[in-house]
Amino acid sequence: MAQKIVAGNWKMNLSLKEAIDLVESIDQEDLDKDVRVILFPSTLYLQALSEKTKLELGVQNFSEMDKGAYTGEIAISQIRSVGGSIGLIGHSERRMYYKESNDVLKAKVNQAVEEDFDFIFCCGEPLEVREGGREMEYVSRQLKESLFHLPKDKIKNKIIAYEPVWAIGTGKTATAEQAEEMHKNIRFWLKEKYGEEIADSVSILYGGSCKPQNAKEIFACENVDGGLIGGASLNAKDFTTIINSFE
Ligand code: PGA
Repeated sequence: MAQKIVAGNWKMNLSLKEAIDLVESIDQEDLDKDVRVILFPSTLYLQALSEKTKLELGVQNFSEMDKGAYTGEIAISQIRSVGGSIGLIGHSERRMYYKESNDVLKAKVNQAVEEDFDFIFCCGEPLEVREGGREMEYVSRQLKESLFHLPKDKIKNKIIAYEPVWAIGTGKTATAEQAEEMHKNIRFWLKEKYGEEIADSVSILYGGSCKPQNAKEIFACENVDGGLIGGASLNAKDFTTIINSFE
């Protein structure tokens, strides 16, 4: 059985004080013990937040290099040294605004595996691809070119987030049927390549305007193991309601 996970992607929001307040408010709520909760604040705040909370903390991006002359980049070892234990790879905003290609994302996957650093691999199609009915082909290619080169033992228990780009920050959520359809396919591709046991061990999260109002219905889908939450993770009540939305 795949682990249930709810992760909050704070993106480029909040001052340090606001981030500390938010973490403290989340900590005060009663959270479903069966759910793994992960926060992705600004990397700048990791050290301060790790001193305030036991919640798992991660980064929204990291370097595909291990160290050296790469101005402005942050290495996995540096992230670990300030309390980060997991990273997002391939969020659509990184792909779109910073031109991260499938090749660069593959290198980040390899670096994470090399350093035994956990990650959430993000995939998802833009609006024109969905309108053209090519979303399955598009997402399967993202997975094939950046993730599915990993051997069986390295893909076990990993996390994939399906985030249709047209649903991110737009208020337009995929319907539970649209999410389940893609998640079912991702599980099928995993099964085809790695076998049933491995496919069932991978957590597949949904992301894109997931809110307290729709989380229950989305999380109830057979192949949805949780969510990657943007906007709604900036509000402690909304985020914790989403965490507690599993049946
Ligand atoms: P959203 O963002 O929930 O604000 O749509 C999700 C994400 O980008 O991870």
